[in-house]
Amino acid sequence: MRVTATAEFMLEPILDSNKDAGASRDAIGLGQAAGSGLNTRHGTLLTLEDISVSFDGFKALNDLNLYIGVGELRCIIGPNGAGKTTLMDVITGKTRPTQGKAWFGETLDLRRMSEVQIAQAGIGRKFQKPTVFEALTVFENLELAQKTDKSVWACLGARLGDEQRARIEQVLETIRLTASAQRQAGLLSHGQKQFLEIGMLLMQDPQLLLLDEPVAGMTDAETEFTAELFKSLAGKHSLMVVEHDMGFVGAIADHVTVLHQGSVLAEGSLEQVQENQRVIEVYLGR
Ligand SMILES: Nc1ncnc2c1ncn2[C@@H]1O[C@H](COP(=O)(O)OP(=O)(O)OP(=O)(O)O)[C@@H](O)[C@H]1O
Ligand SMILES: [Mg+2]
Repeated sequence: MRVTATAEFMLEPILDSNKDAGASRDAIGLGQAAGSGLNTRHGTLLTLEDISVSFDGFKALNDLNLYIGVGELRCIIGPNGAGKTTLMDVITGKTRPTQGKAWFGETLDLRRMSEVQIAQAGIGRKFQKPTVFEALTVFENLELAQKTDKSVWACLGARLGDEQRARIEQVLETIRLTASAQRQAGLLSHGQKQFLEIGMLLMQDPQLLLLDEPVAGMTDAETEFTAELFKSLAGKHSLMVVEHDMGFVGAIADHVTVLHQGSVLAEGSLEQVQENQRVIEVYLGR
């Protein structure tokens, strides 16, 4: 196992004779931008081991083991109630596991961090329902997302630096909303609001993006663009995408994890899991 059991949140990275250059950096200070400061010398960004979550005795997650690589685009599939959203809740600190290990990089123990600390360390999450500020413009939404101080008026009143403006323009282009920059977010289509929310996440430059059913309710064209977008984000970021739309999963994923009753049922390429007899029985064959 890669993670030293005694490693503690905020401790110096564990020194190792075969560590690469990036691993020699100092321990990560929370509150600073995520990214290259994270110690991921074995290429694993997220490590979940033996994770269980109980709700009044019901095990929503049951001895779950999952590893996400740096820059990886992972799809999580599985029947309703399999524990997919609960898994994201555990990673983001919203739900505390009753047992198990949850590490971000090699030195950050997610179980000991608050939701805010986890977000600041570089884990961004998109919920199914877009949560943009409808009364503000697209540009202002991105501007706000860039700030750590979430007081709307403090943020909008402050002058934007050239660098910040350039970053917003870059994100606008990535999410194809440049032409709508000055539009009120409330006037966007459902799909565009989803893209704006992804853009708001990107403003924070998270190392890991968690996306729960991102293409639900999208048109075919929007779904196609989302696939392109996610593929372009992979490499620079790691993505964990929960989705029921198998066409979409097939378009983006090289690695798929199937959850069932709170545990990993199968893992591999989409073709491999689609041929798995148990996966067909509990999920795909229905
Ligand atoms: N706060 C909670 N209290 C009690 N039970 C919960 C709670 N949250 C989730 N559950 C239960 O845990 C199980 C897993 O739920 P979860 O929402 O993670 O499933 P899911 O895989 O995301 O399903 P879906 O595909 O329908 O979104 C379900 O049986 C659900 O009812
Ligand atoms: Mg869910």
